[in-house]
Amino acid sequence: MSHPLRVKIRGTGASVPDEVLDNDYFAAYLDTSEEWILPRTGIRERRRLAKDESTVTMALQASQRALENAGISAEEIDALLVCTATPETPLPATACWLQAELGISGQGTPAMDIAAACSGFVYGLVLAAMMIENGAYENVLLVGAESLTRITNYQDRATCILFGDAAGAAIVSRAQDPQQAILYHELGADGSKARAVWVPAGGAREPASQRTVNEQLHYMRMNGRELFKSAVLKMEELVDRALEKTGTEPKEVKLVIPHQSNLRIIESARRRLGLPPEKMAVNIDRYGNTSAASIALAFDEAWRDGTLGPGDLVLFLAFGAGVTWGSVLMRL
Ligand code: ACO
Repeated sequence: MSHPLRVKIRGTGASVPDEVLDNDYFAAYLDTSEEWILPRTGIRERRRLAKDESTVTMALQASQRALENAGISAEEIDALLVCTATPETPLPATACWLQAELGISGQGTPAMDIAAACSGFVYGLVLAAMMIENGAYENVLLVGAESLTRITNYQDRATCILFGDAAGAAIVSRAQDPQQAILYHELGADGSKARAVWVPAGGAREPASQRTVNEQLHYMRMNGRELFKSAVLKMEELVDRALEKTGTEPKEVKLVIPHQSNLRIIESARRRLGLPPEKMAVNIDRYGNTSAASIALAFDEAWRDGTLGPGDLVLFLAFGAGVTWGSVLMRL
């Protein structure tokens, strides 16, 4: 097992758009219903960006709130990582647009994106911790931000009911207290399942053209059934290994924060741990699946309402497009 990564969370922030789409919104024009959506997914509503909003506008607000919560200025950030599957532009990185918006582009701070979809925030947390542990960086601004409604086909009932827009941010910093650390982490991917959820066009393989738009190849496609099975199995595996490798009892974990893709997937991980519902962070009912933003958003909620604080043990669990997965067991 790798040695602990001595980092702490100094502050968190989040941002969600104002527009709320409830299940009746979709039932009004598609062959779907609250009775189908809620029991199958756990989703009651999700948020959608306005025309003048984007991945960066949400990322900026979440970052400013995280900086304020941490009590530090943007100038004290020495690296920016933005986890997203819906970048502001194909080029350059969303993190570069965000750096400029934060007013710190003159500092030369490195800024890059992490494209690991729903596992993005967990990937980013581990990478930020390694950058800090290595000695090169002190405070990393880690953001998960998604504008999934921009790549969602609103005529496809199998996907449009699932996704929403949001951003969450955390300031990851060097820890002085030896107890504060990432105690266990695991990242993985299986690229042979790349087509389980993907956007066929708009990249180098199939550049955007009139044809790709006509054929709606710029929208997300998903094999929900295949992903569901893989996600349940992988979440259970991740839980087992994180506990076993660290000799941790489930009851020692203050809160589990799983990626919010389906309440039934979250429930399977909870049952594996034998934990009561209050020890599992759930906000999919209010925001749907927000991919890389989902764990960051739930973490911010738990941090701000006092469910989590310094000294608590938190377990992050993620699974998503790629397919990718990851877990982090962290003493805050
Ligand atoms: N309303 C009504 N009926 C629907 C809807 C809808 N919104 N969507 C699908 N159906 C129908 C299907 O057409 C199908 O009908 P059929 O049997 O006549 O063909 C039936 O319902 C069952 O469809 P399934 O896809 O098998 O439904 P399932 O029970 O698997 O639930 C769901 C679908 C909710 C998507 C589930 O599979 C799931 O959550 N999968 C995991 C998704 C996930 O983990 N994604 C993570 C990656 S996302 C990312 O990285 C950005």
